[in-house]
Amino acid sequence: MNQKFNHLIDTEDYSVHQWNSMVRLAQDIMRRPESYCEKCKGKIMATLFYEPSTRTQMSFQTAMIRLGGNIIGFDNPSNSSVAKGENLKDTIKIISNYADILVMRHTQEGSAKAAALNAECPVINAGDGGHLHPTQTLTDLLTLQTEIGRLDNLTIGLCGDLKYGRTVHSLVKTLSCYKNNKFVLISTPSLALPSYIKDVMLARGCEFKEVKTIEEAIPELDMLYMTRIQRERFESAEEYEKQKDVYRLTREKMSLAKSDMIVMHPLPRVNEIDVEVDDDPRAAYFKQANYGMYVRMALILSTLNNELHPHPLLSGEIHKNVCCTNPKCVTQTEHYLPHSYRKYGDILICEYCDERILT
Ligand code: NCD
Repeated sequence: MNQKFNHLIDTEDYSVHQWNSMVRLAQDIMRRPESYCEKCKGKIMATLFYEPSTRTQMSFQTAMIRLGGNIIGFDNPSNSSVAKGENLKDTIKIISNYADILVMRHTQEGSAKAAALNAECPVINAGDGGHLHPTQTLTDLLTLQTEIGRLDNLTIGLCGDLKYGRTVHSLVKTLSCYKNNKFVLISTPSLALPSYIKDVMLARGCEFKEVKTIEEAIPELDMLYMTRIQRERFESAEEYEKQKDVYRLTREKMSLAKSDMIVMHPLPRVNEIDVEVDDDPRAAYFKQANYGMYVRMALILSTLNNELHPHPLLSGEIHKNVCCTNPKCVTQTEHYLPHSYRKYGDILICEYCDERILT
């Protein structure tokens, strides 16, 4: 179904080879930006942001402008026909005819795939609820390649909200494709990495362990990925209160780390990295945000040049009478979507949000 375009919905849409070439292209753009400044002349990118964003939205917009293209879009759906009750399908059908590439961030899990099913141009997932964020992963790959010089043989610490942190989910899925990467998961039990992501690591034979403190993990790490506790995704304010501020990276804790470890963070930061760490040469998070713009230039170019290989959006079975049990799944409100599932033993896996449903 709908195999025409080079959508980027999940990191798995691309092969390791394609990730590597995107990183190489971004590095070339960083070296010679002037050679790329007219590459998207006459092209239009639409950015539809149903959720707040600073870096992702503006780095996409500046990326397109630096390539010589133009931008349209909204960052507040209440100023669009969404406020009048328009469904996602209709919004996407219309805007994807106005634009050559569509970048969307949405509150619902699986929304990017739902959008792609109805789009007349390539769709880029800029974050779908607590599910995935593949373009942050591109940013993270470029940061690792440029700052450390490799994407394999790394010991990676991931700290904070591993449950709702979509950047972590996409990053683990991608880095587990590279050789000999090991993961140290630092979280409280209630914010642990979801099992559908752990299963990816298990299937690829990746070593990983779960620990409770930064101190016990930090000495062995090549990279520490700090994340914000995702307040907006908690079921109650009390739950959030219990988890907020559990992790804080300080200068003292940094003194336990290797001299060449780097600290990354998708940003925005709340309290999880003390501002005094900003001056440490190992703090790479501001550079990381800058790399995001270049890698998005590479992504826009590769997508518009049709250099990637489109593949089916839905490949599972349709079960009309089975409803996804994830209250945040896009199928809960966009009722026209086919109920499509991958089968895994007795389990059906929702093709939009990856929720597992026992049958
Ligand atoms: C992240 C996101 O939106 O998931 N931010 C980003 O895109 N750079 C992380 C976050 O919001 O905590």
